[in-house]
Amino acid sequence: MKEVIVLIGTGGIGLAIARRVGAGKHVVLADLKIENAQAAAKTLDDAGVETSAVAADLASRESILALIDHARGFGEIRGVVCAAGVSPSQAPVSTILKVDLYGTSVLLEEFGKVIAEGGSGIVISSQSGHRLPALPEEQNAALATAPTEELLALPFIASISDTLKAYQYAKRCNVLRVMGEATKWGRRGATVNSISPGIVITPLANDELRGPRGEGYRKMIAGMPAGRAGTPDEIGDLAEFLMSSRGRWITGADFLIDGGCTASYHYGELQYLKATH
Ligand SMILES: NC(=O)c1ccc[n+]([C@@H]2O[C@H](COP(=O)([O-])OP(=O)(O)OC[C@H]3O[C@@H](n4cnc5c(N)ncnc54)[C@H](O)[C@@H]3O)[C@@H](O)[C@H]2O)c1
Repeated sequence: MKEVIVLIGTGGIGLAIARRVGAGKHVVLADLKIENAQAAAKTLDDAGVETSAVAADLASRESILALIDHARGFGEIRGVVCAAGVSPSQAPVSTILKVDLYGTSVLLEEFGKVIAEGGSGIVISSQSGHRLPALPEEQNAALATAPTEELLALPFIASISDTLKAYQYAKRCNVLRVMGEATKWGRRGATVNSISPGIVITPLANDELRGPRGEGYRKMIAGMPAGRAGTPDEIGDLAEFLMSSRGRWITGADFLIDGGCTASYHYGELQYLKATH
């Protein structure tokens, strides 16, 4: 039996993380599109990492439970990375909420029951969640701790009609949910954190760049303090640290890694975005 790392969402960011934490382990690559998981498996196989590829739907509890069963067939689960998601240009409100908000919460709940002692989890959230104003305390508490099956029926979630808002609330929920779950994961000796990337060039980001908000994206990239978009490898480096032995005192935390975009959105030249984002 080996130590197992599970990655759901085998896109650019997920693969960059798996490549850094997979050496000597069995890496389960799961994606809604099995061909994406298989392509990632081939890349890692060719780099000397043992893998298996499976189809899994983050939005389905049944599918998450089947993924856990599959993973445990190889050994104890030492790490889980949730890098599956849909962006505002890719899907309607209901799908964004079901995948990004509800699905991520199911994953945290179910993996939190089986994660190995000394294990760690990473959820890829987004800078988008940092653009919402502070929510009322009772909404924070509900997003962090309400039973997962009740999340989508919360009135302030059920009434969302705009895809950008849906994405922002889902990503804010990811961060709060990680805080709530960290208190439970800690009882198993495991850590769990979220990473909120800015614009990182992957197929998902390229969809945004080519989508209806593409021009705005390019302007935003030029205006941010770093003056460029990020790369999946830069997110991978941060995740590797959080999942390493050096990250053991870090749990229930969110890491904004965005080239300064959020700083500029609130206090710099990107403040013009507040009218629309
Ligand atoms: N790329 C960016 O600029 C950026 C910025 C902030 C946050 N993010 C977040 O990073 C995460 C990963 O995105 P990426 O940039 O690597 O994109 P990507 O498109 O390369 O990868 C996303 C993967 O998730 C899979 N997926 C979609 N729905 C799924 C579902 N229901 N179940 C399982 N898999 C599913 C897709 O098939 C795809 O392989 C997402 O949560 C996204 O919101 C990305």
